[in-house]
Amino acid sequence: MTEYRDVASHGDMNLAWAVRHEVFVDEQKVPIEEEVDALDLEPTTIHALALSDGVCLGTGRVLFDSPGHVHIGRLAVRAAARGRGIGVGLMEYLERRAAERYAVDGAVTIVLSSQEHAMEFYSRLGYAPVSGERYLDAGIWHHDMSKVVSSSSRCPTQHDLGTQRTHSVRPLPRSRTESPDLG
Ligand SMILES: CC(C)(COP(=O)(O)OP(=O)(O)OC[C@H]1O[C@@H](n2cnc3c(N)ncnc32)[C@H](O)[C@@H]1OP(=O)(O)O)[C@@H](O)C(=O)NCCC(=O)NCCS
Repeated sequence: MTEYRDVASHGDMNLAWAVRHEVFVDEQKVPIEEEVDALDLEPTTIHALALSDGVCLGTGRVLFDSPGHVHIGRLAVRAAARGRGIGVGLMEYLERRAAERYAVDGAVTIVLSSQEHAMEFYSRLGYAPVSGERYLDAGIWHHDMSKVVSSSSRCPTQHDLGTQRTHSVRPLPRSRTESPDLG
C-alpha cells in the first residue's frame, strides 16, 4: 500500500532530496548543483512523497506561478519501484494539491517540462504539448506540456500564497535556477 502525502518536516525534505539525487544525479547525470534549487524552499512550493512501509519511493513538487497557474516538476520514482503506478499516483496527488491550494474559479492550469521519453506518460494523464518546441535542460531534451485541472475548491488565501513570488511561465530549467542557502 502506497501512501501519498506532503513533505511536512526537514526530515521529509531530506527523503525527497535523496530520491531526486538517486534518480536525477546518479541515474540521469544531472549536475548536482542544478538539482536542488531555491524554489525547493519557497513557502508556496508543495512537495509530495510516495511512501511504502515508511520507505520513500518517489517524490514531486508543485511550484506556484500566479493564482490559477502552477508548475509540476522533479517527478521521480526510484528505479526499483517503477511500473507499479507510483508515478501516476504522485501526479494525481500533486494535481489534487495544486487544485486545492491554487485553483481560481474552480480551475488550475498546470504546466510541466517533460523529458522527451516521458511525454507518453504525461499524455496518458491528459497533458498536451504547449508547442512543438523542444529545448535542452541539463543536457536532456524537454517539451512543455500543460493541462487544466478542474476543482470545486476555494480560491487561494493570502496564507496559501505566502510570499507571492511569481515564477516565469517557462518551467524553470535547472540551469536557470539558483541554489538555496540550506544553512
Ligand atoms: C517517469 C516516471 C516518474 C514514471 O513513474 P512510474 O512509477 O514508473 O510510472 P507508473 O508505474 O505510474 O506508469 C504508469 C504507466 O505509464 C507508463 N510509463 C511510465 N514511464 C513511462 C515513460 N517514461 N514513457 C512511457 N510510458 C511510461 C508505464 O509503463 C505505465 O503504463 P501501464 O499502465 O500501461 O503499465 C519514472 O519512470 C521516473 O522516475 N523516471 C526517471 C525520472 C524522470 O524521467 N522523471 C520525469 C521527468 S519529466
